[in-house]
Amino acid sequence: FDSLTFCENLIQWFQTEQRVLPWRENQDPYRVWVSEIMLQQTKVDTVIPYFNRFIDQFPTLQALAGAEEQQVLKAWEGLGYYSRARNLHSAVQEVVSTYNGQVPNNEKELSSLKGIGPYTKGAILSIAYDTPAPAVDGNVMRVLSRILMIEDDIAKPATRKVFEEVVRELISKEDPSSFNQGLMELGALICTPKKPSCMLCPVQNHCRAFAEGKELQLPIKSSK
Ligand code: ADE
Repeated sequence: FDSLTFCENLIQWFQTEQRVLPWRENQDPYRVWVSEIMLQQTKVDTVIPYFNRFIDQFPTLQALAGAEEQQVLKAWEGLGYYSRARNLHSAVQEVVSTYNGQVPNNEKELSSLKGIGPYTKGAILSIAYDTPAPAVDGNVMRVLSRILMIEDDIAKPATRKVFEEVVRELISKEDPSSFNQGLMELGALICTPKKPSCMLCPVQNHCRAFAEGKELQLPIKSSK
């Protein structure tokens, strides 16, 4: 597997074809954090107006930390999963009190913050800080399970670690942000669950599942 050419093709495609999204305007770690929390259980099209209003109302981490919880929950109203908002609010207060208002740029400190799991941690490290860390969600598992024909059951919690190790080996050290976002974007636009657009895929010639005509049989997901 030629991971250098794979990275180049993926990153090149991401840089030309990515959607214009408000959280891609800059690399502000606070904005990356807010967007990734909103996107965890909610679709992009739903998140966009919430993200824009939230950032208008709380433009900085300090502004959010200083807000009343009721204001934060009100801004979240309609997005659901309100513990996301409460955890985010509490975590930015912790960043102000413990880290001088700077979002941590290392795994250990990020993991200590409420609501930041392995996915969010990797997204912040790679997108905001250009650090080669994996950010593996369901979309990324689908894409990589097809490209590399990985047949582990993605419904099992332990499987995420398998994919994290794969990403640690593959990820571009030059541009980890475009690599991780490229995988997410490929999952959203091309390598979709039901009717993947393999004919338009920038990494079709790297895809083991496509080569064997098995893209619809992956990922393996037990219904449990
Ligand atoms: N889903 C999760 N993170 C995302 C991001 N940064 N851009 C688009 N979709 C996403």
